[in-house]
Amino acid sequence: MDQNRAPVLEALQAFRECGYTPFNPPGHRQGRGADPRVLEILGEAVYAADIISVNGLDDRLNRQGVIEQAQQLMAEAVGAEQAFFSTCGSSLSVKSAMLSVAGPHEKLIVPRHAHKSVTSALILSGVCPVWLSPHWDAERHLSHPPGPDEVRELFKAEPEAKGMLLVTPNDYGTCGDIQAIAEVCHEFGKPLIVDEAWGAHLPFHPDLPPWGMDADADVVVTSVHKSGAAVEQSSVFHLQGDLVDPNVLKAREDLLATTSPTSLVYATLDGWRRHMVQHGKELLTATLALAHSTRAAINDLTGLRVMGEAEFLGEELAKSLDPLKMVIDVSALDISGYQATDWLREHQRVTLGLSDHRRVVAQFTHADDHRTAGILLDALSALVKAADDFETPPPVDLPSSDELQLETVMLPRDAFFAEVEQVDADQAVGRISAEMVTPYPPGAPAVLPGEVITKEVVDYVRSGLNAGMELPDPADSELKSFRVVARKP
Ligand SMILES: Cc1ncc(COP(=O)(O)O)c(C=O)c1O
Repeated sequence: MDQNRAPVLEALQAFRECGYTPFNPPGHRQGRGADPRVLEILGEAVYAADIISVNGLDDRLNRQGVIEQAQQLMAEAVGAEQAFFSTCGSSLSVKSAMLSVAGPHEKLIVPRHAHKSVTSALILSGVCPVWLSPHWDAERHLSHPPGPDEVRELFKAEPEAKGMLLVTPNDYGTCGDIQAIAEVCHEFGKPLIVDEAWGAHLPFHPDLPPWGMDADADVVVTSVHKSGAAVEQSSVFHLQGDLVDPNVLKAREDLLATTSPTSLVYATLDGWRRHMVQHGKELLTATLALAHSTRAAINDLTGLRVMGEAEFLGEELAKSLDPLKMVIDVSALDISGYQATDWLREHQRVTLGLSDHRRVVAQFTHADDHRTAGILLDALSALVKAADDFETPPPVDLPSSDELQLETVMLPRDAFFAEVEQVDADQAVGRISAEMVTPYPPGAPAVLPGEVITKEVVDYVRSGLNAGMELPDPADSELKSFRVVARKP
């Protein structure tokens, strides 16, 4: 295929050049109907790029195959057999992939540190999770993707499991051994889904960790908005082999997706793919060098340490790491990651993604350069100077890995839709949760519907909240009470 083409962008341009007058959505009519106060902030280009697919980008029967061609180009570019665009982030792609592999009451192997979109899929589908413990670094209170031996043991113990989901890289950028895990799954004739939401850039540079399709996974989900240059919500899921039926995958996606996808997502996905095919390697080579030198410069700042191979890699830890994620340990400054992130936003106008009780994460993409790296370095050195004046961070009662692995006594779906009651935190211990309680980011629920709540986990999330942790999902955002299944276990 001609990777210099960008069918969605071309269709968008043709739509404009043909001078169509639409009487179908979107009602803003390429911005004509937008309030000038909105246009002042967003600009007209955003609206001009937002066109319906059917009888807009393409004709009424999609006869030009605009999206189809763009998806085929994407598949070819990253070495997949098929690629599907999604306009609702990996949150939707992960659900589509899981629902294609297992149905209600069927089993699926899932690592317990998976993102909350995985839990949502379990709730919606009624799939029964077979929990797999991630690798656990007790000293640093961090989880990494599980290894192939644990997967093999679990498939032996649960031969009826329909497949497995692996999350790699995680939000800290640490990666599992996809190839070895795919081999184990295939030994048992089962498909491997990889939630590679953080790995959209991996196919485009040989010095980055292996990417799921190259490592023989069956379905791989990516969020291009995270590490690529497509707009928020842009996601692609990729398919190869014959363990997952493409028609089933399409039907599951159709079940969940919008019937009104925005061309803004499609066009930016299409343009990003072309950009990466033409220039990805050179751009990412520069980004890797920048990340390397910035990492060294941060390590020169007293009290900061960018975690790397020494902390992350090992037989019982991670297999590889994404060097573009800079996981900065701030604990030697006697401050928390939450404090550091808030201070950097307020005083340095620098915004970061993940923060936890002792770390912050700065992610580099191909869009970063010496200017942005310099801003980060200046901001961090200002943080080091200011940290003496920070209040001592409230402690977080961190549970051990065993304490984090709660007992599941009901299907997540059954608990979520059961008769529920809201009980005081101390009364919630020993009861079955009917809700998710998720430190976000990274977004792995500490408590899931169907799990028995323990004192340790209540103390963890309540002390976390007090220390600055964001927990978006519980009914009581102050965590004075918890939503539990009315029936006692
Ligand atoms: C591991 C993982 N999977 C899935 C998702 C969902 O991705 P999206 O935000 O694109 O819906 C996230 C989001 O942070 C994630 O970290």
